[in-house]
Amino acid sequence: MTRDGTLASLLGALTTAVAVSAILFVVGPASAHKTPVSREQLKSYEDAFMDAVKKGDLLFHGDAATAKTMGVNLSNSGMACAMCHPHAADTHPHTYPKFQAQIGKFSTLRDMVNWCIEKPMQGEQIEADSEAMRDLEAYIYWSNTGSVLTPGKY
Ligand code: HEC
Repeated sequence: MTRDGTLASLLGALTTAVAVSAILFVVGPASAHKTPVSREQLKSYEDAFMDAVKKGDLLFHGDAATAKTMGVNLSNSGMACAMCHPHAADTHPHTYPKFQAQIGKFSTLRDMVNWCIEKPMQGEQIEADSEAMRDLEAYIYWSNTGSVLTPGKY
C-alpha cells in the first residue's frame, strides 16, 4: 500500500468514527429507551388511552354530540354499533388482519369498522387514520382485553 493509500484509509476510518459519534450524540445510546418511566408519566399514558376508550365508547353507543364534535356521521339508520355488538361482542379485533368475506378481501379491523358504518348503519365511512377511528378501535380493543391474538383466524 502506498503512503497516500494509508493516509486515505486512516482518514476514512476517522470520518466514520466522527459520524458514529455524531449519531450517538444526536440519537443517544440505545439504552435511552430504558429510562424508567415515572409514576406521573405512566399515569398520563394510561389517561391518554382511557380518554380514547371513553370517546370510542360514546361513538359506539351512538352519542350524537360526540360524533358531531368529531365531524363524523356514523349512522343514518338509527342504529348504533352497540345494538348489534353489546360490549363490543363479536368484534373479534384479535383476529385481524384476516380475509373478510363481507368485504371480499384481506382486511384490517378498520376496514370492517367502515363496512359496518356503511352497510348496517348507512353512515359515512371515516378516514382510517381519523380520531374517530382511533377511538372506536381503542374501545373495541379495551373491551376485548385478554383475548389471545389469533391473526388471520376467520
Ligand atoms: C345492524 C347490526 C350491526 C351494526 C349496527 C354494526 N354491526 Fe358490526 N357487524 C355486524 C355483522 C352482521 C357483522 C358480520 C359478522 C361476521 O360474519 O363477521 C359485523 C362485523 C363486525 C366486525 C368484524 C367482526 C369479526 O368477526 O371479524 C367489527 C369489527 C364490527 N362489526 C364493528 C362494528 C362497529 C364499530 C359498528 C359501529 C360503527 C358496527 N359494527 C355496527 C352487524 C352490525
